[in-house]
Amino acid sequence: TVTDTPVHIHGGLRDQDRIFTNVHARNDWKLKGALSRGDWHRTKDILLQGDAKIIQTIKDSGLRGRGGAGFPSGLKWSFMNKPGWEKDPRPRYLVVNADEGEPGTCKDREIMRGDPHKLVEGCLVAGRSMNATAAYIYIRGEFIEEAHRMQVAIDEAYAAGLIGKNACGSGYDFDVYVHRGAGAYICGEETALIESLEGKQGKPRLKPPFPADVGLFGCPSTVANVETVAVAPTIARRGGSWFASFGRERNSGTKLFCVSGHVNNPAVFEEEMSMPLKEMLERHCGGIRGGWDNLKGIIPGGCSVPVINREVSAKVLMDYDSLKDHGTALGTGAIIVMDNSVDMIKAIARFAKFYKHESCGQCTPCREGTTWMMNMMDRLVEGRAQEREIDMLLELTKQVEGHTICALGDAAAWPIQGLMKVYRPEVEARIAEFKAKSGDVVFGGELVKDI
Ligand code: NAI
Ligand code: SF4
Repeated sequence: TVTDTPVHIHGGLRDQDRIFTNVHARNDWKLKGALSRGDWHRTKDILLQGDAKIIQTIKDSGLRGRGGAGFPSGLKWSFMNKPGWEKDPRPRYLVVNADEGEPGTCKDREIMRGDPHKLVEGCLVAGRSMNATAAYIYIRGEFIEEAHRMQVAIDEAYAAGLIGKNACGSGYDFDVYVHRGAGAYICGEETALIESLEGKQGKPRLKPPFPADVGLFGCPSTVANVETVAVAPTIARRGGSWFASFGRERNSGTKLFCVSGHVNNPAVFEEEMSMPLKEMLERHCGGIRGGWDNLKGIIPGGCSVPVINREVSAKVLMDYDSLKDHGTALGTGAIIVMDNSVDMIKAIARFAKFYKHESCGQCTPCREGTTWMMNMMDRLVEGRAQEREIDMLLELTKQVEGHTICALGDAAAWPIQGLMKVYRPEVEARIAEFKAKSGDVVFGGELVKDI
């Protein structure tokens, strides 16, 4: 592995290398402002390059899906153009996943607030590469202002001839629609999102078939995250090798990171991939509240990924490989920082409650498992358990992980596994404390005399 090898960092990303130059919406987010920032510049030329060339550029850039899974984007988009696709009479769709619901994650909403034209132009460029005729932007129900701004940007783009019939004068017809969700976390899972878009309950489908074969309305479709789509025009304009020059191999490019919790200045910012986590927090967030030694742990990629402690946080790089090598993941790049004031058991128990609430209930290991995990975690917060129940809980997470239709089951299991890996002594101490205080012997939540 290449973990912890020093990487070349350009002293932090320079302004001229930022893709999202209006991410905090300080300047005009409408068409006039977008044009002044270089959006829609010679988009016709990009479209005229054709599908194969655009996809090759995305492949060269090394871009990986920014929604959390990190699947190589060029490869994924190429699944839409399998040999013989021209003979398939079905329409083809790009579906943009703007259902940003992963706790800690708040980057896509900033794009839609400050740079909505980047996403509209991205729909056109990514859509052209897949030979799609339309894009549906599925926006989380709570994102009212974001949905409004997206619609304004789409209307402006239609009025200016940038999308619609003969988009940008390229001879290519392309429509963009906004669809608002209704607040279910599971609708961010790509096949649940498709179901919801079709007007059904948002329940994930089994994969395969993948959406590129059978997607929206039974047609070839690709579901991609807002950020992934929105960076496509800049990559097409500046070149795949430009984007690939940031970060390191397999982990290239720039990315939006969102930092919440106990830093001095929580922030959303664009930075080069592979920057050391510690440096990132110091550079962009003024460091940890009360200093580095006051740090307890960090969840580096949204609430689905395992927590890391202070020692690992000090050496890990913010990219796919380094975080994976340290037993966690980059996920959405949502960094949740927790200082020593945090009861880590309680924090992870709160996540367990979240997953129980959001499970769609269609597969047994997830439906039952998330309920069990929540109940056991709630007891562990108080210490009302036997020490061997920790292993039983871990075994339960293993029974859920990998045995469900969608990734929600895994996402519910991983934070608990992370807790036990890093903070198990604290959980054991909590149990001992409860026993010492109450004198009760508890197993499975029940008082027992002898175990
Ligand atoms: P996945 O790894 O199953 O798929 C990633 C993408 O690659 C999908 O679009 C899938 O269709 C495609 N793909 C994978 N293998 C393929 C194949 N053999 N052929 C064709 N296409 C293929 O992951 P998934 O379930 O899409 O996403 C899970 C991630 O989502 C988690 O890691 C989590 O971090 C993240 N997440 C993000 C949220 C957010 O608010 N952004 C919310 C919840 C989870
Ligand atoms: Fe539904 Fe959970 Fe099964 Fe996903 S894993 S399909 S959320 S029950």
